[in-house]
Amino acid sequence: MASGMLVCVTGAGGFVASWLVKHLLQEGYIVRGTLRDPENPKNAHLKELEGAKERLSLYKADLMNYDSLCNAFKGCDGIFHVASPVSDDPNLVPVAIEGTKNVVNAAADMSVRRIVFTSSYGAVHMDPNRNPNKVLDETCWSDTEF
Ligand SMILES: NC(=O)c1ccc[n+]([C@@H]2O[C@H](COP(=O)([O-])OP(=O)(O)OC[C@H]3O[C@@H](n4cnc5c(N)ncnc54)[C@H](OP(=O)(O)O)[C@@H]3O)[C@@H](O)[C@H]2O)c1
Repeated sequence: MASGMLVCVTGAGGFVASWLVKHLLQEGYIVRGTLRDPENPKNAHLKELEGAKERLSLYKADLMNYDSLCNAFKGCDGIFHVASPVSDDPNLVPVAIEGTKNVVNAAADMSVRRIVFTSSYGAVHMDPNRNPNKVLDETCWSDTEF
């Protein structure tokens, strides 16, 4: 992708996403960040990033609110899906799954060409039968029974 393109980062105020927004701005992208609460002071650092005044806009969106995602994704060339409830609480797993489905479907509905999804090492390495010498890639998935 060339600089000057419009990309959206979900959960822009989170740990990984904040670094991503910073780097995208440095590379010259026009960036939209989604936040559940744009007025929350914990997200204030985003406005201080180099290039933010000119090229960062913040949209209110929740993973469970499909329309809010469509609104943020409209006109974007790409989406970086980073927002996720990060917790040991099993009740939040469906939010992560449904939220990701919502992101993929909203991006398709808004004709976005590419989605980059930040997943976890846990998705690929937890298989007691895997060959420890094999490089982990998209052919490797954790054994959910295990
Ligand atoms: N940190 C790491 O070292 C690491 C390593 C590998 C993979 N990852 C993966 O990277 C992703 C982000 O991790 P992180 O460490 O950056 O987490 P984080 O700092 O907790 O950020 C998560 C973000 O997701 C947002 N979020 C949670 N539920 C949401 C919802 N229902 N709708 C919209 N936004 C929601 C949060 O927004 P609020 O501010 O509104 O709560 C927050 O900004 C996760 O999938 C994690 O598994 C992280």
